[in-house]
Order: sequence, then structure tokens, then C-alpha cells
Amino acid sequence: MSAPTSKPVAAPPWPGSKADGVARLELNGETVEIPVVIGTEGERALDIAKLRATTGAITLDEGYVNTGSTTSAITYLDGEKGILRYRGYPIEDLAAKADYVEVAYLLIYGKLPTSDELDSFRMSLSLHTMIHEDMRNFYSGFPRDAHPMAIVGSVVGALSTFYQDSLDVRDPRQVEVSVHRLLAKLPTIAAYSYKKSVGQPLMYPRNDLGYCENFLHMMFAVPCEEYHVDPDFAEALDMLLIVHADHEQNCSTSTVRMVGSSDANLFASISAGISALWGPLHGGANQACVEMLERIGADGGNVKKYVDLAKKKDSGFRLMGFGHRVYKNYDPRAKLIKATCDKLLAKLSIRDPIFDIAQQLEEVALADDYFIERKLYPNVDFYSGVIYRAMGIPVQMFTVLFAMGRLAGWIAHWIEMHHSPTKKICRPRQVYTGEMRREFLPITKRT
Ligand code: ACO
Repeated sequence: MSAPTSKPVAAPPWPGSKADGVARLELNGETVEIPVVIGTEGERALDIAKLRATTGAITLDEGYVNTGSTTSAITYLDGEKGILRYRGYPIEDLAAKADYVEVAYLLIYGKLPTSDELDSFRMSLSLHTMIHEDMRNFYSGFPRDAHPMAIVGSVVGALSTFYQDSLDVRDPRQVEVSVHRLLAKLPTIAAYSYKKSVGQPLMYPRNDLGYCENFLHMMFAVPCEEYHVDPDFAEALDMLLIVHADHEQNCSTSTVRMVGSSDANLFASISAGISALWGPLHGGANQACVEMLERIGADGGNVKKYVDLAKKKDSGFRLMGFGHRVYKNYDPRAKLIKATCDKLLAKLSIRDPIFDIAQQLEEVALADDYFIERKLYPNVDFYSGVIYRAMGIPVQMFTVLFAMGRLAGWIAHWIEMHHSPTKKICRPRQVYTGEMRREFLPITKRT
């Protein structure tokens, strides 16, 4: 390799990473040294932050397939090995030993809570579950058939109009109040969006119930009779919220960071994350997956036909709930969800044809060369819908439940970004490929 002819590019102090030598890039006959940084699990990155200033060139990476937008100490995942850890704790341990509120604390505060810390966190969340009474009016304004994700995103954005006393992103106490408000109120906002769609009275939250029980109560209780939450449903929902709680720099989390980077308040940033999550290539895949399984069932249950269709590029059809940008192995979350799904269906003695189709589809796809070569495995969305169906949750609410889980991760990332000494407004560059300068023609001369 030729000796560098330009000065090494200075590395900014990326939080948590270490310098790990330099890479050399030859450009226009010059060799530029690019600092390499390394994370605690050995991931290496070329730090190109100063590349344009030094060489005039930028990097191009549509979809950020190969771009690290930040260092982060929240979640580690290894897509090749199927590893997922929050703050160092394996997802399997957290799903087995903690509940969602405890995991939310871990993600947001960076450590497992002591018993006192957890009690006071739970208490604070319980005390903020109601939404401002005037916000209930929003629900009568939306069309009956509005998608709950649209309602939830709008109402979360509107929190910044009702809770203006906690919008200062530089005041840690105000941020903490917003965090507790969001975690406490999102289940209420979400359940109300469902009640609106079925024309039932909105149920006030009950602070004597746990996080998931309270949500299920608001979803399914009606004022005219007693309703008892099935503890197995609450447990299954809790597990689902935990496995959805964070997944590092995914589309919606990156959106939350991007919006938050302009110092937009937490409610506005989370509302943007909800919109990003809604798409069928991201969180919306759980709804799309169940709809796909229903379609296969209605078409006679021939899974091979649909696996073949997914392999045809011009069909425009993909197996929803299959494949992942990062996982090139079985998604560890899908394993946990499938186990809970088995358990719940057995306990309820439910034979859901959709579950059978899902299992057959998985078997056929995993034995198929197309899926093997591309390392396409079931992802988090493949079996979650089957559990939601067993609990009586309508398909339009699936992505809302994903949002409820992911909220803890979005908040943790928003806070981490604000604490970073290297924080900057996110503003990617582009390579312009449009027209070069041309003369403006008066309308009479245009063809
Ligand atoms: N069905 C059929 N083929 C697929 C699928 C699928 N579900 N997923 C990927 N492929 C193929 C692609 O056609 C491509 O083939 P090629 O190399 O011959 O062109 C190859 O596998 C790589 O796929 P990409 O689209 O390049 O991978 P990318 O990382 O961009 O996309 C994604 C990942 C969006 C998740 C994709 O796998 C997909 O569309 N899956 C279905 C939707 C889904 O389940 N989304 C949820 C993801 S998890 C989450 O967000 C919570």
C-alpha cells in the first residue's frame, strides 16, 4: 500500500468507541488516511466525518445499508449469530425474568432498577395514565374507519399542545416528565383508538392494574359489566412488548433520532417514529403478515404456491414476516414469540388455521434454496399476529402494539442522542443528478 500523501483525517471522539488504526483510500492520486473506530463488541467503522472537507468527496449509501449513523450503548445485535441484547442483557433473559416496565427502565436509565427505583417508576407511570379530558374530543373527530396508527400518531403529536410544561429538550426534569407521561399515556391513547373504531365508550385507565393488564382492560372492558383480564394474555403481551422494545438504528428509531436532532420536542419526535413504524416494510409487517396468511388460507392453503410467487421478482409479492436487513439467521425474537404462541394456543385449546399455515410456510420456505441462499428467516412479525389474534386483538391494532413496545427504545435513543457530545442535526448529503443550469422560458415559448 502506498504511503499517505495527505494528512490523516482527525477522528472526532465518538462516545464509547476506541481508535483502531487507519484505513487508506486512494482518490485522485492522493492517499487519504481514514480513522477506524471499534466498538465494545468488535464492530469496526471507517470514520468518514471529515472526508468531504479533506477530499471533496462524499459517500453514497442509499437506505443506509452500510452506514453507521452513531455510536450507541443501548442495544447490541449480531444478525449473523442471532444475538440481541439490551444494555448487555440477552433478550431471552429479559423476556423470562423481567417485565416490560422494568425493561423500559433499563433501556431509558441504562441500568436495571433497584426495587425502590422500580416501585417509584411504576407508581409514576400509574399516576400519569389519564390523558387530558379535552383530548378525548379528538377521537370523535376521526372517521370511524380511521387506521389506529394514524390516530395514535396524531394524538401523540398533540400531546405537545396539552403538556407544554415539559417540552424543553434541555431541561432534564422536563424531559423526564415527558418520558413518564408518554409511557403512561400511550396505552390509553392506543386503547381509545380501538374503542373509537368499534363505537364503544372509552374506558378510563385503572391504576390498580399492571401496565399490560390496564391496557387489556381499556381495550376489552365496557362500563356496564365486570371484566377480568386473563393473566396469560397479560403475560404474553408483556413478552411481546419486551421483544419489541428496541432494535438499535431501525427505520423508526432513526426517524426519532433524525427529528429529535433538530431539537424538536419528545412528543413530536415520537409521533414521527410512529409514522415511520406504520409502513408494511417495518412495523406494519405484522398486519400485512396475518393478512397474507389469511389470503393463503382463503386460497386453499397451498403454501408452496405463495413461496413460489415470492421468488418471482415481477410478482411484486414478498413473504411478509420474512427477511430482515440485519438478521441473516433466525430472529431471536421470533423464537421467543413462537414459543409463547405454542403455549398460549395450547392453553386456550385453540386451533387457529392461520398458525398451521404459518408453520407450513416457514417449513417450506426454510427448505427452499432461494430463501437459504438469501438467508431469509421468519422475523419478529411472523408469529406475533397469531398471538394477538388469540387474544382477540383486531389486525389493525397489531402495529399499534408494536409501537407501544418500541416506545421505550425510541425514548432511550432520543435521550442518548441529546446527551452525546458529538450531537449534530442530521442532514445527509446527496449526489445531484438533475438538469444543469438552463434558461427560464416564458410560457408562450414552451413546448
Ligand atoms: N420474500 C421474498 N424475497 C425476499 C424477501 C421476502 N420477504 N425479503 C427479501 N427478499 C429477497 C429480495 O428480493 C432480494 O433478492 P435479490 O438479492 O435476488 O434481489 C434479497 O432477498 C435481499 O432483500 P432486500 O430487499 O435487498 O433486503 P433489505 O435488507 O433491503 O430488506 C426487508 C429487508 C425490508 C425486511 C425485506 O426482507 C422485506 O421486505 N421483508 C418483508 C417485510 C417484513 O417482514 N418486514 C418486517 C421487517 S422486521 C421489522 O421491521 C420489525
